[in-house]
Amino acid sequence: MFRILRVIALTILPSAAILPALAQHPAPGGMVSPPTHQHRFDDPKAWSRVFDDPARDKWQKPGEVIRTLALKPNDRVADIGAGTGYFAVRLARAVPEGTVFAADIAPKMVEHLGARAKAENLTNMRAVQAGEDSPRLPEPVDVILLVNTYHHIEKRADYFRKLKASLKPGGRVAIIDFKLDAPQGPPKRTRISAERITAEMKQAGYALARAHGILPHQNFLIFKPI
Ligand SMILES: C[S@@+](CC[C@H](N)C(=O)[O-])C[C@H]1O[C@@H](n2cnc3c(N)ncnc32)[C@H](O)[C@@H]1O
Repeated sequence: MFRILRVIALTILPSAAILPALAQHPAPGGMVSPPTHQHRFDDPKAWSRVFDDPARDKWQKPGEVIRTLALKPNDRVADIGAGTGYFAVRLARAVPEGTVFAADIAPKMVEHLGARAKAENLTNMRAVQAGEDSPRLPEPVDVILLVNTYHHIEKRADYFRKLKASLKPGGRVAIIDFKLDAPQGPPKRTRISAERITAEMKQAGYALARAHGILPHQNFLIFKPI
């Protein structure tokens, strides 16, 4: 019974949970961008059952993603929209001499991230309260990762243009977000194609450096400031 509920949660919850409020946002250049996907992420315990479900590892491949990022042990990394810490805790272990800033806009998630870092003795992981227009990182970083968060961000061209100031020289932005035809993920009308992400990032002043094809359901794109 529990197994069945878990499967339902994994497939349905990300698309139908907790009061989705959708709004249409005109993109710079007159194009109409897909509606930003908004959930209320104020129940970390409930979301943890979805985000931290071990069954997710099979398609999310967190180890392979982190290996692909080729981090140095002393890198500084930001996980924007860190949620319950699925990637942030793994990143913290991957950069034992570095720092991971686990930033989220939902105060309850930030609280949860701080508690999780403490409980798992990850002294190099710091929870950060993000704002709508900026993750409010305390210092520039080598890598900024956004997993399943890009489509939640409003006014993306402005957001990412400003975010350049939070990248160290040679820094990268890695965006992982659901493909248009993925069998799970947010509502299809809120998903953003790889081409569109690339065009939006270009508007914000970045060039696509790599598109990794290792994830079955998500695009995995690396951008560098131009
Ligand atoms: C679908 S969850 C993904 C969580 C995590 N990255 C993962 O893959 O398990 C999206 C997260 O992004 C956060 N979020 C939404 N908009 C944000 C913004 N503008 N800045 C930072 N976090 C944001 C939400 O609060 C939520 O925790």
